[in-house]
Amino acid sequence: MDNIILVGFMGTGKSAAGRLLAKRLKRPFIDLDERIERKAGQSIPAIFEKSGEAGFRRMESEAVREAAGLKGHVIATGGGVMLDEANVAALKRSGTLICLTARPDVIISRTSAGIAARPLLVGSDPETKVRELLKLREPFYAKADMTLDTSDKPVERVVDEIMRKLK
Ligand code: S3P
Repeated sequence: MDNIILVGFMGTGKSAAGRLLAKRLKRPFIDLDERIERKAGQSIPAIFEKSGEAGFRRMESEAVREAAGLKGHVIATGGGVMLDEANVAALKRSGTLICLTARPDVIISRTSAGIAARPLLVGSDPETKVRELLKLREPFYAKADMTLDTSDKPVERVVDEIMRKLK
């Protein structure tokens, strides 16, 4: 059975939707960022600090390769997974890629509470950073098989809509 893989920008609800989707479909769930943290024995901000973004991306690609070898899982990815062509190819071979999106204002409000956990947004102007990264990444997220806007939707509705799309 193919995997169902949630991709998309930070704050679009990939982990929350993935967890509930897996429960509803009675499939195992994995969160790639959690896997990376467990394997490294460090939080994502600590990995960025010690090994830089390049070090984190290497660990992320390794986690993608492992996850792509699984069958029938629901997989939530980190927001930068689609930037690497080999990641996209491996994930596409292993299942269906659903890109969650949200309006910039929604992303800014969802990420502002836990900003310290997202090293790419830490700095003097996280709002501008979000808008810049969204624009830069648009063509990469467009490689997903389908897209779903999660703005203003409770996670239950997001999951209903994903299930409808998958039928
Ligand atoms: C990143 C997103 C984060 C995490 C890391 C880098 C990105 O995951 O992987 O901070 O490049 O967009 P979430 O999308 O789960 O916040």
